[in-house]
Amino acid sequence: MRLGVGSDHAGFKVKEHIRERLSQAGYEVVDYGTHGPESTDYPIYAFRVAEAVARGEVDAGILVCGTGIGMCIAANKVRGVRGAVAWSVETGRLAKRHNNANVLCLPGRLLEPEEAWRVAEAWLGEEFEGGRHARRLALIARHEEDAFC
Ligand code: RB5
Repeated sequence: MRLGVGSDHAGFKVKEHIRERLSQAGYEVVDYGTHGPESTDYPIYAFRVAEAVARGEVDAGILVCGTGIGMCIAANKVRGVRGAVAWSVETGRLAKRHNNANVLCLPGRLLEPEEAWRVAEAWLGEEFEGGRHARRLALIARHEEDAFC
């Protein structure tokens, strides 16, 4: 599985840790930046990763900013992307089981790097449940089609 990762300055440390953990776990990782701790703007990296997911360059993405919120707002502007903020193992699991999130957004200022990895690992380890959740995602996808056409 090929994963795209990205962060702003506030998520940099966590993104670096997650990139390392993903590689150790055998994932192929594409790092879309940022590449240092200098202040920068999260939408740049959110759009890079989200568009890579939408184009199929990577199978899924992980974004980290201070809260995860800005990254999630930006990523969800990209058609076909289902971004979810997760802050615990349980929300990580449910982001996949119920929402089939293809971009996980993590709060780099609120979680320690290893805690954030545990959340990402929980999301990666789950399967989408389908059923009633697929019906709900279809409603979102239909709205997205209408809104963008
Ligand atoms: C940067 O200071 C911070 O606003 C950003 O990382 C993020 O938390 C925005 O949602």
